[in-house]
Amino acid sequence: MRKPIIAGNWKMNKGVEEAKNLVNEILDIELNKDVEAVLCTPFVDLALVKEMIKDTDIKLGAQNMYFEESGAYTGEVSPTMLTGIGVEYVILGHSERREYFKECDDTINKKVLSALKHELKPILCVGETLEERQEGKEKEKVRTQIEKNLTGVSEEQFDNVVIAYEPIWAIGTGVTASSDDAEEMCAYIRTIVGELHGENAAQKVRIQYGGSVKPENVKEIMGKENIDGALVGGASLEAESFGKLVNF
Ligand code: 13P
Repeated sequence: MRKPIIAGNWKMNKGVEEAKNLVNEILDIELNKDVEAVLCTPFVDLALVKEMIKDTDIKLGAQNMYFEESGAYTGEVSPTMLTGIGVEYVILGHSERREYFKECDDTINKKVLSALKHELKPILCVGETLEERQEGKEKEKVRTQIEKNLTGVSEEQFDNVVIAYEPIWAIGTGVTASSDDAEEMCAYIRTIVGELHGENAAQKVRIQYGGSVKPENVKEIMGKENIDGALVGGASLEAESFGKLVNF
C-alpha cells in the first residue's frame, strides 16, 4: 500500500520571516495523518522550518543538492548538509533546474544516486514540453528521462523514490493536465519502472502529478489508480490551500 504524499514546492519564495508565518499557520490546521505532508523550502529556511515542525508528522524537503559530500563547489549544498539538519526529501531534476540551470540527465542521475546513498528520498521530476506533447513525443521524452535519471537504482531503493510527473506546459500556467492524461502517463511511468527495475520496484515507487494542482482539482487527481500524490507550487504557498490539499 503506497502512502499518499502531498509535497509543497515553495520554489524561490518565502524568506525566513515569511516562512515562519506560513508554517505557524500550517501548524494550526489539523492535517490528515494518513497522508504524508512535505514542505520543500528554500535552503535558507530549512533549519528554521525543521525546528518548527519537529514535533509533528510534517516532513522536510530541499529543492536541489549537489552530488558530492564536500569540497570546492562554490554555492552548492551537499547531501550530508541536508541530512545534518533533518531533511528527508530532495526534489531533483525539476524542469526549472533543467531549463534555467542546464542540469542534464547525467548530473541528475548522479544526484539521485547520491541522495539515496545518503538516505535522502529523491523526488525526481520528469515531464514533456508543450511542443513535445503536440508532436506526440511525450512518452518518448518521459521514458528517456526515467531510463537515464534512475540508472543504477536498485529494486530495494524504490521504497524511497518518488517520481513526479510534471508536464512543463501545466506548471504555473493554471492549465492542468486532465486527470485521465495524468493517470495515463503515471501508469506508463510505473510500467517503465517495472521493465527496467522489476515489478516490485514498480509497485513500491510513489508517483506524483504536478502542474497547477489546487484544492479544486486535487481530489479528482488523487482518485486515480497510479497517482500517489501531488507536487504543488503556487497552491502550497498559503496555509489554507496547503491544508486542503493534504486533506483532500
Ligand atoms: P504549480 O503548482 O505552481 O503549477 O507548480 C508545479 C511545480 O512545478 C511543482 O514542482
